[in-house]
Amino acid sequence: MNQTMNEKEPTYFVSCPSGVEKLLVDELASFGLNDLKQEKGGVSLQTADEKEIISVVLNSRLASRVFKILQSYTIYDKDDLYRMASQKWWHKEFDVDQTFKIQTLFDFKAKKILKNSNVYGLTLKDAICDQFRKECNKRPDVAKEDPDISLTLRIEDKYPNRKKNEDAPEKNNFMAIISIDLCGTPLNFRGYRSAYHQAPLRENLAAALIMASDWKPNEEILFDGMCGSATILIEAALIAGGVSPSYLRVFEAIENNQQVFAFEEQSWFVDNNQLKNWFYDHIDQECKNNKNKLKNIEPGLIFGSDISPGFLKSARANLKEARIPKEAVRVDLGDATKDGPGANQKSGVYICNPPYGERLVQEDIEKLYYDLGENLKNNWKGFRAYVFTSDPSLRKKIALQTSERIPFFNGKLECRLLKYDLY
Ligand SMILES: C[S@@+](CC[C@H](N)C(=O)[O-])C[C@H]1O[C@@H](n2cnc3c(N)ncnc32)[C@H](O)[C@@H]1O
Repeated sequence: MNQTMNEKEPTYFVSCPSGVEKLLVDELASFGLNDLKQEKGGVSLQTADEKEIISVVLNSRLASRVFKILQSYTIYDKDDLYRMASQKWWHKEFDVDQTFKIQTLFDFKAKKILKNSNVYGLTLKDAICDQFRKECNKRPDVAKEDPDISLTLRIEDKYPNRKKNEDAPEKNNFMAIISIDLCGTPLNFRGYRSAYHQAPLRENLAAALIMASDWKPNEEILFDGMCGSATILIEAALIAGGVSPSYLRVFEAIENNQQVFAFEEQSWFVDNNQLKNWFYDHIDQECKNNKNKLKNIEPGLIFGSDISPGFLKSARANLKEARIPKEAVRVDLGDATKDGPGANQKSGVYICNPPYGERLVQEDIEKLYYDLGENLKNNWKGFRAYVFTSDPSLRKKIALQTSERIPFFNGKLECRLLKYDLY
């Protein structure tokens, strides 16, 4: 029953939208990180040090959140959870005057057998408060809204790969994993979304679509024919410039002398002066670097259009908020079922995220998909087209042969990024 953390257990978990996990492994490997394990909904890391994990928080385009794993052990029931959690020195993790919140997540088997996740959340809360009382004669308060410290308790089957009728000595054993969120506001909230759109893509999903495509930044054209509020275009510009995705949040925090991320209030960071000095010097320097990088995005390669004048206004407002230079991204009114590329635009990537008919009401959504396909066939020869959409019956309206179908989830919607080679 008793099991403390050993070196082979993950120390961090980086979450991402479903379907993005493999791209996230590649992104984290490109940061020089090893011992990465692809999991459902994210990637776990075993050997990252503190500076490396802070760099992930600053630089990952694909991550939603980054969690530091504080405890991970086998439990049979809530008494085990209490026993194990009350052995931890919680007062070394955060201050008694800070508020905290626990989110409890059960997998399918935990739901079936342990049933009530609230009871487990409350058990962990009691263990934490009792341990604080013992050490500090005081307990921290729980805050449902805007807590200083966000903890996650994940309880899952210890043997998820066991066959159905296979006998196992520890049949109902679970792994309880307690982690602390290092981010606060999720990392996909880049800070440029100032203007309204009914159905914007999540920023990290938009970055994933671009990374899953074979677009060559700074060399080739990227055109989003249904750009909406310009999420794909802004992410493409940031990728082209090598601009850190957290740049706006960092600019703003430095300007207003505020903290950017939740970890800045956590003991492992607060009590390490060397790490703090490194971080604040590093973001100061990065702020200057990113300002220069924004100016260096290759002009004349990223374009977008939308049929709605209102959404085009939103696109322009967001591009401005993102501080993307006008010459780096151009957006115009346009109809994706009729327009072709400009006179000198012979090849590159055409990408779009048409309405699914789920959140946007479209008079004749099937016709829109059919006409989009016909226009791609007739007017975009030489380009590789990527269409990101959900409904299989709508996908079939595009009368073109797909050369790739990459699955992603947009929230709960199962989607595909469809690739068409246009000859
Ligand atoms: C799902 S939204 C795209 C959202 C966008 N990716 C974002 O993150 O904001 C689909 C967009 O397609 C646009 N649209 C619909 N029909 C169009 C057409 N025929 N030509 C161009 N744009 C069109 C809508 O105005 C809407 O902004």
